[in-house]
Amino acid sequence: MDEMKKISRRSVIQLGLAGTVLSMTGVTKSWGQSLLMPTPAEVEGPFYPVVDQVDKDADMTRVAGRAGMAKGEAIIIEGAITDISGKPVADAVIDIWQANAAGRYNHPRDPNPALHDPDFQGWAVIRSDAKGHYQFITVKPGAYPATKAWIRPPHIHFKISGHGFQTLITQMYFPHEPLNKADLLLRSKSVKQQSAMIASTEGKHENLTVYAYNIVLTPVAR
Ligand SMILES: [Fe+2]
Repeated sequence: MDEMKKISRRSVIQLGLAGTVLSMTGVTKSWGQSLLMPTPAEVEGPFYPVVDQVDKDADMTRVAGRAGMAKGEAIIIEGAITDISGKPVADAVIDIWQANAAGRYNHPRDPNPALHDPDFQGWAVIRSDAKGHYQFITVKPGAYPATKAWIRPPHIHFKISGHGFQTLITQMYFPHEPLNKADLLLRSKSVKQQSAMIASTEGKHENLTVYAYNIVLTPVAR
């Protein structure tokens, strides 16, 4: 049964996207069309993985060689990587890391006493396809204390490298999270920037909520 689920979930990844994400960018190629705002950068934070791991695939709800599934709500995140004109960026490297459902990173210096989840992969390195699409399955990260007075809202860290583009480090947030408004990092952004950093819900796939998060890269200076 679990194996069936695994195959079924992986098929989501293999089938790719239905083209709904790119259409969300609303870009046409006609001359004079306004350009997209590059996705705002954000600090890398202290919890980028420091211990290498074999399994960095697009299903973070399972760890190769272990039978269990990650605790928490499994979700799908997908989107398109484009340049500012909306042109897809193929074969971009997308490095993703996040806390587990309890708000704990798989990092030796995470001071959060919340439990480590050995079945949660926590880190993935994937690539966009020929159409600039990417997709992964994970669990919704928990909030965690950054300081005594500051609780970070659920978020996912991204580092994206596309050939001919500046490497972008950013954080993706979830919609309708009460902690978003008080977050010292997110609230320091403009309203327009905040909306670019908050994913949108796209419905369900096999009972998993699908979040859309498109990423716009800036070309390297010539
Ligand atoms: Fe974080």
